Amino acid sequence: MDILKDRILSEGQALGGNVLKVDSFLNHKVDPKLMYDMGTYFSEYFKDHGITKIFTIESSGIAPTVMTAMQMGLQMVTLKKQASKILNGDVYQTTVHSFTKNMDYELTLSKKYIDKDDKILIIDDFLANGEAALGAARVVEMAGATVAGIGIVIEKSFQPGREMLNEKGYDVYSLARVSKLGKDLIEFITE
Ligand code: G4P
Repeated sequence: MDILKDRILSEGQALGGNVLKVDSFLNHKVDPKLMYDMGTYFSEYFKDHGITKIFTIESSGIAPTVMTAMQMGLQMVTLKKQASKILNGDVYQTTVHSFTKNMDYELTLSKKYIDKDDKILIIDDFLANGEAALGAARVVEMAGATVAGIGIVIEKSFQPGREMLNEKGYDVYSLARVSKLGKDLIEFITE
């Protein structure tokens, strides 16, 4: 997605070689038109996958996901990162470890919002080590439903997430694939 790559090149900052700061359009200030365009790319790629619902993980995945859900005419479900006091009881839950943030959290989904016949598209903002996407996939599979695809806004291809998801056989589509990050250097995989 060229307009996303251009924004990453003009506004992104590489922090410490592994982390790309994009809080001027994705993680803090959010550009709605860019989010809408992301939705167009995701909906075009996944239009023939028989998707029935779109899942994301709070919080930065929500904006591109709601735009995708709107364009695909589907409902979106946000997976919670903490066991909600209101959702007690009927939930699917799995522990996810974030290497980037060095913390664990409980990915939680109310059983009401998934059905075994569902074909789920999972969308998230970053793919680094793949733990969040794999956790989301576990929750879907706990319900007996199917992961029909995984959409990622920014994939850091030099980290192991993409390969792990590919090994498990998931169909992964990333809008920008960063191959290299360094001081004043951001490079992409060109496809
Ligand atoms: P993984 O799921 O692929 O294993 O990634 P990891 O746990 O290592 O990192 C997940 C969290 O760190 C996510 O935030 C993700 O957005 C953020 N993250 C990972 N790499 C980058 C990066 O290069 N730049 C930025 N800006 N963020 C990165 P989160 O905990 O889910 O929080 P939220 O931002 O969605 O609220």
